[in-house]
Amino acid sequence: MTTLHPTSIGAASPRLEAREKVTGHAMYAVDRPMPGAVYAWPVQAAFARGRVAAVQTEAALGIDGVLAVLWHGNAPRLEPGNDPQMLVLQSPEVAYYGQVVALVVATTLESAQEGADAVVVRAEAQPADTVLRADHPDLYEPETVNAGYPGRLETGDFEAGFGVADVRIDATYRTPTEHHNAMEPHATTAFWERGRLVVYDATQSSTTMRDTLAALFELPPQLVRVHNEHVGGGFGGKGYPKPTAVLAAMAARLVGRPVKLALSRSMLFAMVGYRTPTIQRVRLGADAKGRLLAIGHEAFAQTSRLAEFTEQSAVISRVLYGAPNHTSRHHVVRLDVPTPTVMRAPGECPGAFALESAMDELATAGNWDPVQLRIDNDTDRDAEGLPFSSRHLVECLRHGAEAFGWSGRDPRIGTRREGRWLLGTGVASSTFPAITWPSTATARATADDHFHVAVNAADIGTGARTVMRQIAADALGVPAHCVEITVGDSAIGQAPVAGGSMGTSSWGWAVTKACLALRERIDREHGGRVPPEGISVGADTTADIAARGDYARHAFGAQFCALRADPRTGEVRIDRLLGVFAAGRIINPTTARSQLIGGMTMGVGMALTEQTILDPRTGDFVTSDLASYHVAVNADIPRIDIEFVPEDDPHLNPMGSKGIGELGIVGTAAAVANAVYHATGIRVRSLPITPAALLSYSSSAGA
Ligand code: MOS
Repeated sequence: MTTLHPTSIGAASPRLEAREKVTGHAMYAVDRPMPGAVYAWPVQAAFARGRVAAVQTEAALGIDGVLAVLWHGNAPRLEPGNDPQMLVLQSPEVAYYGQVVALVVATTLESAQEGADAVVVRAEAQPADTVLRADHPDLYEPETVNAGYPGRLETGDFEAGFGVADVRIDATYRTPTEHHNAMEPHATTAFWERGRLVVYDATQSSTTMRDTLAALFELPPQLVRVHNEHVGGGFGGKGYPKPTAVLAAMAARLVGRPVKLALSRSMLFAMVGYRTPTIQRVRLGADAKGRLLAIGHEAFAQTSRLAEFTEQSAVISRVLYGAPNHTSRHHVVRLDVPTPTVMRAPGECPGAFALESAMDELATAGNWDPVQLRIDNDTDRDAEGLPFSSRHLVECLRHGAEAFGWSGRDPRIGTRREGRWLLGTGVASSTFPAITWPSTATARATADDHFHVAVNAADIGTGARTVMRQIAADALGVPAHCVEITVGDSAIGQAPVAGGSMGTSSWGWAVTKACLALRERIDREHGGRVPPEGISVGADTTADIAARGDYARHAFGAQFCALRADPRTGEVRIDRLLGVFAAGRIINPTTARSQLIGGMTMGVGMALTEQTILDPRTGDFVTSDLASYHVAVNADIPRIDIEFVPEDDPHLNPMGSKGIGELGIVGTAAAVANAVYHATGIRVRSLPITPAALLSYSSSAGA
C-alpha cells in the first residue's frame, strides 16, 4: 500500500497553474514573444457553393507591410490526407460560406487586416442548399456515426412492442446549430527551423495535430513539434485538427519567418466546426405499470460536401434505459455548409434533450412520477446486451430526489405561483461513455529524490496537469510536491486527445504504469535508493487496454432544476440546479466539481439561449459574435450544487476513474425544459427556450 498524502487521489487540490493564469503569465498559442514574427489574416468566401474565378492581390500587395498573399494559385501544395477540410488553399472550389480563399501575411496585424480587405475575390457562385429538413430528398443512413457506433441498431421488434403499449409517446424534438465559443480562439504560431516545423497551437491534441501536419507537409512526424502548454477552452472545437495551424505553417514557409494567426470571434463560426442542428423523433411505449416495452429514436443531422460527420444523437437510447424492443437510427444529409464536429458531449447531449423530454412526456401521460419512472426502467445491460461495468443511475436519482426535496413536489402543472412567476421543477438523467484510449508516459527519478513525470496531456482549462500530478504522486508513494509534471508537447510522446471525456483515464493509466515501474526499479534494482545518474522509465498502455473484458462502460448522473417562468413575457429564470453523478473514483473533487458546474452551465445555455442562425439565402452564420450568440453567464446561474455517488468499478483503469468533462451537460437542457413544462404547462420541443419561443407556444396554446 502506498502512503496517503493530502495531495493524493481524492484530495481537493487547486490548479497548479492557477497563479500563472490569473496573473496573465500563462502563454497561450500566440502569446509567446517571437523575434521577427509576422501576422496572418484570412480572406473568406462570401458564397456557399461554387468556385473562385480569380483572386486579385495587387492592391493588397501594395499596402505597407504586406509581405505575401497566399491563395490557391501560389500556396504550398499539401499532401491529401483523410480530412479534406485541412486542404486549405489547394483548389478554387468552395464548399461553404466563410471558407478561406486567401491569406494575407504582413509585418503587423493591422496591415494584414487591411490587406485582407483589399484582396478582390471573383466568384462563380451557384445557389446553395443549406437547410436541414427531415424530408430532405438527399438524406441517407450512414453505416457508422461519430465515435464509431453503428448508425442503426435494432433489437426485438420495435413496432410490435410499441403497438401493444398501454401508454405511448411519439414526439419530434429539435436542437439548433450551436457553436463551441471557447474563450481563446483557434490560434497558431508556426515557424520552420532547418526543415523542421514548430507550432504553438490551440489544440486539444498536440499528438494528432503533429501527425496531421506531418502528413500534409510530407514530413516524418519527428520533424514536427506541436506545443499546447495552455489552451483556453475547447469544448470539442479544438479536438480534431483545424486549418489554422496549416495556414500558419504554409505562410511561415512562404515568407521564411514565424507567423502568428489568431482567428477573430466571427471567423470561428464558419472555420472550425459547430454542432449540427438535429431533428429527433422519439417513440416510447410503456405498459400500464410504466415499464418500457419499446424505445425508438430516429435522428436527423447535416454534414458538409467535404466530409461525413454524423452526430450520434440516438446512441443514448441504447444505454439509458432498458426495453425488450429497441430501434435507433441516424440519417444525414450533405449540404453546402461547413462540416459539423464534436461539441460538448456530441450525441449524448442533443440525444438526451429528446429522450429525456420524451420520458417526461411519458410520465405525464401515464401519471407517473418522473423520478420513479426512470428508476423503474433501469437496466443492467445496454441495448447490445453488454453488461455495464458499473451503473449507479438509480442511486443518483434517489440521492438527488432526496437532496433536492423532490418528494414535496406537486405533480400538477402550473399550480405554484410567486407574483408574475410560475414555478416548476424538472429532472433528467445523464450518461456519457467512460472511454480509455492508449497513451504513453515517462517517469524519471533523480538522485535528490525528485520525480519528473511527462505525459502529453492537454490542459484545456480542466486541471489536467494537476490531477496527473496527483495520480503520479500516488503511484510513486510520495507527496505531490516531490513530483514535477510536464504536459502539452508532442515531443513527450503519443497520447490521446483531451476530448471524449477520456483524458484523465487515458493519460492517468500511462502515468500510473510508468510510476509503478519506476518505483519498482528503484526498490528492486537499487535497494530503494536512486543512483546518481537517475532512472527513467517509459510506459505504453495499448496492450493493457486491449486486455480488458467486454463491458459497457459509462458514467451516469441525474440533474434537477427549479425555475420560474413568466408566460406573459416568455422569461425563464433558473433558481437552482442540482447534479448528482456516479463517475467512478473522483481524482480531485475541486476540479471535478468545476468541470460539472461548467457542463451544467453550458446545459443552461443550450436550454435557454444558445443558437446559431444561418441565413438560408447565403449559407452565412449571421449570429457570429457573443452579442448575438448568447452563452450562459454568471447572472444566468444563481446556484448549482454538485454531489457524487461513490462508485468502485474494477473494470476501468488502475485509478477507477470515469470521465466527467461532458457528463454535466447531458440531461441539463431536458431538466430545464421539463421544469418549464411543470411551471407553465408549455411543452417546448425545440431549443432554445427563448422568451420569443415561449411566447409563441403560449399564444398558440391560447394561454
Ligand atoms: Mo469533447 S466534444 O469530446 O472535446
